[in-house]
Amino acid sequence: MTIGTAVKMSRMRMRMSWVGIGCVGLGLGALQMGVAQQAPQPAAATVVSQPWRNAALDPDTRADLMVKAMTLEEKIQLVHGSGWGVLRPGAVVPAGDNGGAGFVPGIPRLGLPDINMADSAVGIRMAARESRYATLLPSVIGMASSWDPAMGHLYGAVIGRELRDEGYNMSIGGGVDLIREPRNGRNFEYASEDPVLSGTMVGELAMGVQSQEVMGDIKHYVMNDQETGRNTLNAVLNERAMQETDLLGFQIAIGMAKPAGVMCSYNRVNGDYACENKYTLTDVLKDQWGYKGFVLSDWDGTHSTVKAVLAGEDMEQPGDKYFGAPLQAAVIAGTVPVARLDDMVHRIVRSMFATGVVDHPPVRRVVDPFEGRDDARKIEEEGLVLLKNEGGVLPLASGSARTIAVIGGRADFGVLSGGGSAQVDAPGGRPGGSEWGVPVYFPSSPLRYLREQAGSDAAVSFDAGTDVAEAAKAAAKAQVAVVFVTQWMSEGMDRMTLSLPDNQDALVEAVAKANPNTVVVLETGGPVSMPWSAQVKGIVEAWYPGIGGGEAIANVLFGRVNASGKLPVTFAANDAQLPHPKVTGLTPETGNNGMDAGAHHGKEAENFTVDYNVEGMLVGYKWFEVKDRTPLFPFGFGLSYTSFAYSGLKVAEGAESVSFTVKNTGARAGDEIAEVYVTLPKSAGEPFRKLAGFARVSLAAGASETVTVPISPLYLKVFSTQKSGWERVGGAYSIEVGGSSAELPLKAEVSLAAE
Ligand code: BGC
Repeated sequence: MTIGTAVKMSRMRMRMSWVGIGCVGLGLGALQMGVAQQAPQPAAATVVSQPWRNAALDPDTRADLMVKAMTLEEKIQLVHGSGWGVLRPGAVVPAGDNGGAGFVPGIPRLGLPDINMADSAVGIRMAARESRYATLLPSVIGMASSWDPAMGHLYGAVIGRELRDEGYNMSIGGGVDLIREPRNGRNFEYASEDPVLSGTMVGELAMGVQSQEVMGDIKHYVMNDQETGRNTLNAVLNERAMQETDLLGFQIAIGMAKPAGVMCSYNRVNGDYACENKYTLTDVLKDQWGYKGFVLSDWDGTHSTVKAVLAGEDMEQPGDKYFGAPLQAAVIAGTVPVARLDDMVHRIVRSMFATGVVDHPPVRRVVDPFEGRDDARKIEEEGLVLLKNEGGVLPLASGSARTIAVIGGRADFGVLSGGGSAQVDAPGGRPGGSEWGVPVYFPSSPLRYLREQAGSDAAVSFDAGTDVAEAAKAAAKAQVAVVFVTQWMSEGMDRMTLSLPDNQDALVEAVAKANPNTVVVLETGGPVSMPWSAQVKGIVEAWYPGIGGGEAIANVLFGRVNASGKLPVTFAANDAQLPHPKVTGLTPETGNNGMDAGAHHGKEAENFTVDYNVEGMLVGYKWFEVKDRTPLFPFGFGLSYTSFAYSGLKVAEGAESVSFTVKNTGARAGDEIAEVYVTLPKSAGEPFRKLAGFARVSLAAGASETVTVPISPLYLKVFSTQKSGWERVGGAYSIEVGGSSAELPLKAEVSLAAE
């Protein structure tokens, strides 16, 4: 057989198998008619074609065509998962399930692939299964500290790339809940307390995922702002405040990325569960924002059949308790219209076409760990935040006669990662995943890189920090002490306080007393209090640094990379400064794992309310401004090894953009993050600054640049509950620009008409 004939034969086989596949769906009669070529043929029944295969058609048309060809059973099959799979010992793992958190079998006769979903908040979970590898990225909050949309995109692209390599076609990461509660155990999966920063950075992340032809996701929709009591709590917040805070973050991210999925959360929102909340799912997400993808429930977050479906949930995960047989029965009984089921299926299928997972399914290959590590390191380098640098204690000098005492945080071994479903399995970790509730350190040793950069003549000692007196002794012997402190956070828990756990405040205090040149490196999942901040010379927030973290930390401490990150959250001085001095429902009795705090107290679950009207719109820095409280470190704050000056603010017609000049006034190259805030006219009833735009600028020593920052018209508006939409009030708008929410040297006032 020549090559030509072989190709022709295989094409024929393909065509024949298409005919075969197509005929199965049309039934045996059609098959027989197809074979008996002479028989008179009613066109529709005999022309075996799959017009949705035509990639030139738009995703909605393709989905419509495919949905028309589906049986009721096939439609039902697509709107729920197939059980807990690998997540629960003993649960069935269906054929084709790639070992991630979610699996929806496809419909081979129509050419629709399976959906294999993997948790991938900060890298892929369940990679250890079958000895696969996944890159641990820095925490999302660390990525957001870069204020660099390109880093958000890269972050998502790493996740998408590795999902493909591992045979997954959907990410279920993309956390965009606001950091309204700074002690929330999942803050490391989220970006910021500000909706514009959160939405923009996580929107880029989801775009990055989808750039790899993998379905993206945004979660947990919505008001899932604490873990304590998350399965039962009722988050209460008035409509305007919700629209302008938590919903706005989602609106921005979803508008940018058009993600395949939006995951509805466990909690209730103003009475109804988030997964059966018509207001948030249909009125806002689908009608106001025009979202075309599908709403999938958080795992076991579905609570009903008819109510959930009619409210707007499109897919139950991970099982079929409500969207399997009960939904089929409801459709047959007419309590759920066929049109609604078709809409659910359409949304799933159109997302598969739109993202490319049908036309370009993932092809497994070995993940490149080095590329992943370099990407992770780059993101971390931009996201590290230098919070204090008294007397130029940093950058550290290398060379002879240097003595550095490195203390604590397991810095000899590696870096801390966050827990829960965002846990990336450590290289060589337990097959099937890491153990829930057990902190995992990744082998990227800051000590190793600090030693490397200090040079062979320097003496860099290590003390574990477990004995405070010993640590102080070690610190006293060195010129500089670098103390690593950690705060482990995880899904399913909140922290009782902002204080560092495990006596680490005492450790820092003792070291600072022993050594006047003490630098603290924080590996935390969110803001913490620092009662010792005045006693140390340097403070660096590294968040959970990711697999390139050890090197990134050393690069910034030694100044190979200039510090440039800025805080995406306010660091309160103590818990008493917060709108909720205690996490609602979390008490020493309910324990740290306060998942069902309401039930724990023997109360009706319905009674467990978190009253977000206490702060309403005043999330994070807005609260501190209005209440006139001075935080430890303000939102948007971060130092550099160089300095910057701002000048020449100009506001374009209609405040569509602002431009200004940033000059690097120091002796080193560096990046500055310029922040633009607006304060609305008095009549808006919002007496606080809000972030309206930002830009990251790279400047050589002495260089300056004129920067133009666009301002989205939406960010100048307020939500009108009467109009169920956004409006601009007429009056004087003040626009301020600078390098921190607390230091805004440029100011202009413009008058804008109502709109
Ligand atoms: C989490 C989700 C996660 C899901 C699947 C839930 O417990 O809240 O974020 O995607 O589990 O693992």
